Amino acid sequence: MRVLLTGGAGFVGHHIIEHLLKTTNWEIILLDRLDLSGNLNRVHEVIRSYDTKGRLKWVYHDFKAPVSSSTNSQIGKVDCILHVGASTHVDRSITDPLEFVYDNVVGTANIIEWMRVYQRDAKMIYFSTDEVFGPAAGDIAYTEWSRYDSRNPYAATKAGGEELCLAYANTYQLDIRITHCMNIFGERQHAEKFIPLVIKKVLDGGTVFIHANAEKTKAGSRFYIHARNVANAVSFVLHVGCAREKYNIVGSEEVDNLTLAKMIAEVIGKPLQYELVDFHSSRPGHDLRYALDGGKMEMLGWKPPVDFTPSLERTVLWTIKNKHWL
Ligand SMILES: NC(=O)c1ccc[n+]([C@@H]2O[C@H](COP(=O)([O-])OP(=O)(O)OC[C@H]3O[C@@H](n4cnc5c(N)ncnc54)[C@H](O)[C@@H]3O)[C@@H](O)[C@H]2O)c1
Repeated sequence: MRVLLTGGAGFVGHHIIEHLLKTTNWEIILLDRLDLSGNLNRVHEVIRSYDTKGRLKWVYHDFKAPVSSSTNSQIGKVDCILHVGASTHVDRSITDPLEFVYDNVVGTANIIEWMRVYQRDAKMIYFSTDEVFGPAAGDIAYTEWSRYDSRNPYAATKAGGEELCLAYANTYQLDIRITHCMNIFGERQHAEKFIPLVIKKVLDGGTVFIHANAEKTKAGSRFYIHARNVANAVSFVLHVGCAREKYNIVGSEEVDNLTLAKMIAEVIGKPLQYELVDFHSSRPGHDLRYALDGGKMEMLGWKPPVDFTPSLERTVLWTIKNKHWL
């Protein structure tokens, strides 16, 4: 098998590389443009433990541009395409929305057009997000085909990419599957994200600002999931999933951000100093609660291989030993 992975130097991408190196003998072609979130050191650190001879190939390409025939020749014929690369920082999407339209909508169109012209027989996974459904009030959990309700340009551009994938799959009979994933954490995550940020604040004795409702009585919550579990789910969808279907990838339990910060402080063994802040005024475009229904994947036989608490402990302990990622 030969697989093309876009966004291979990103946080999720490099965990998928490690998973594939560990569990398959596939050849992996990594396509990335190495922007401010793409970092080759991630890949360098994980591949040290594996014999990668003949199994890894880099293709430098910005998918805002169409894949040319010469880039296609560099890639060669592939059996599957994992389209994971995207512009991902919500706050940047608010200050520079068009960049996100080019990367996530036009970029996805370029990848599926390349698939239509050169790689018709490949299977593809488009890696989308829970944010396309918007906030989940009360105890709502969105199913795979729930309506979109984007609250920031990032979410809207991911939804746009999703719809293009469906349109291409239906019109040209391509095997494209879509996943929605909840908040991912793990080793080598970008230091601006919540879990590395809390680790750094607790280590430095700083105050952690936790997003809450307007009354500042209830912290926001998520179903956090470790990137290794996500990589496992992506393989599962590749093997068990069907063309033109969508799959929710959900963590094993819902955790509010205050409980999460306390758990992190406990693993580190230092006190947590925190302040609850009204998320509407502090972070426009962010939602208090996101939630997906993971019943479809569960019915097919998938559940996260490792539970949330041990995954979190392992990530925190690893990060303390590898502070250069903070
Ligand atoms: N991290 C999460 O919590 C989360 C949750 C749900 C879904 N997702 C989705 O997972 C995917 C990966 O997220 P991540 O956290 O690893 O992001 P990331 O920002 O760490 O990595 C994205 C990668 O894509 C590359 N990239 C971006 N635009 C590109 C372009 N035009 N051409 C070539 N390469 C380009 C970047 O260089 C980077 O290596 C994204 O599609 C995101 O929408 C992430």
